[in-house]
Amino acid sequence: MTLTGARLLLRDFAQLATPAGTGAPLRGPALGEVEVLEDAFVLCDGESIEAVGRMRDLPAIAGDVVEVECRGLCAVPGLVDCHTHAAFGGDRVDEFSFRAGGASYEELHAAGGGILSTVRATRAAGEDGLRAAVELHRSWMLREGTTTFEAKSGYGLDRATELASLRAIRQAGGVPTWLGAHAVPPELPDADAYLDFALSEVLPEAAEIAEAADVFLERGAFDATQARRYLETCREAGLALRLHGDQFTESGAIPLAVELGARSVDHLEATGEEGIRTLAASDVVGVLLPASALFLGRPMPPARALIDAGAAVALATDFNPGSAFCESLPLVCSLAATQLHLSPAEALAACTVNAAHVLGRADRIGRLAPGHRADITLLDASDWRYLAYHLGGRVVAKVVVGGELR
Ligand code: NIG
Ligand code: FE
Repeated sequence: MTLTGARLLLRDFAQLATPAGTGAPLRGPALGEVEVLEDAFVLCDGESIEAVGRMRDLPAIAGDVVEVECRGLCAVPGLVDCHTHAAFGGDRVDEFSFRAGGASYEELHAAGGGILSTVRATRAAGEDGLRAAVELHRSWMLREGTTTFEAKSGYGLDRATELASLRAIRQAGGVPTWLGAHAVPPELPDADAYLDFALSEVLPEAAEIAEAADVFLERGAFDATQARRYLETCREAGLALRLHGDQFTESGAIPLAVELGARSVDHLEATGEEGIRTLAASDVVGVLLPASALFLGRPMPPARALIDAGAAVALATDFNPGSAFCESLPLVCSLAATQLHLSPAEALAACTVNAAHVLGRADRIGRLAPGHRADITLLDASDWRYLAYHLGGRVVAKVVVGGELR
């Protein structure tokens, strides 16, 4: 066989590792079935992958081809971060220091700090400032091997700042989620009054920019009745649904997610046995955020029990200024292996193909396969499992995004 045209050939990889793929998120034993090719190549044609295989099976290529020697490196699919809060102004380094001294995250939130302090900084940043912030955060993620990122609004909570956040995410190439129900802003008396405003004044335009809606269903934020109202109205406006649930308390997020056909329910640090059973019997993906549990010194989610019960899970950073100032999916994979008891193969699938399902993009990203987008993360290691093994190390050598080497 002879291939023609201008191409990018990444050759001589020590290993190439890619999860399996089906029309549905991987669960059970399939989550850990990664295909590994030794001495491998990836051939890209424009923005897409044309072929992957072993060097000995490399076809003859006619026409222009740029060859990149990848000896000593491994190829995995470009990592997919399906849960971040990358659109924010300011930081929470003071709060971080207070917490180190013993103050709790929930106490700081109740005292008007926490999320609301980022709301003040985000409103003050303006659209240009927000655009610059999302670009900066995107550059950090890219350095850590993330080639697709989702990001939520939710630090504006007024019309102008919520919409500016969503536009900034889209402009930086992210997948925007309207987290219109994150907290109640100080200018409104209660959660119901805020939802009246958000659903009538913000949703119509937010639905034009965002792909999904998300709600913080938690003690001190929105209860199950309010979350249902928010999500049902967003679904009518055409948005996919996601929930922050069971972070501190089990407040009904899993049954609500299942009933409404949500794409995911995220956090799950407080999920008990019944929640595990309910999620496992559903099509809703459980998004695990171990960096957030670590950063807040909270219990880890019951990941092993979820997977063993048959639940579909994904991994993400939860990158945000308050509960997870961490943009590194390789670090999250290390936490998955050391704290959540996932194998490196399960961790890889959870932050590639299953994360792509959460974003409704599994037909194009999350695997190294012909026809998929040429998004590839090159690991500076000759065994792909260093992705999880190298705790906090510089494991990402380069990335290819849409066929372009960065
Ligand atoms: O996913 N839990 C709610 N929202 C974010 C944290 C937001 C913040 O602290 O700024 C989370 O952890
Ligand atoms: Fe979050």
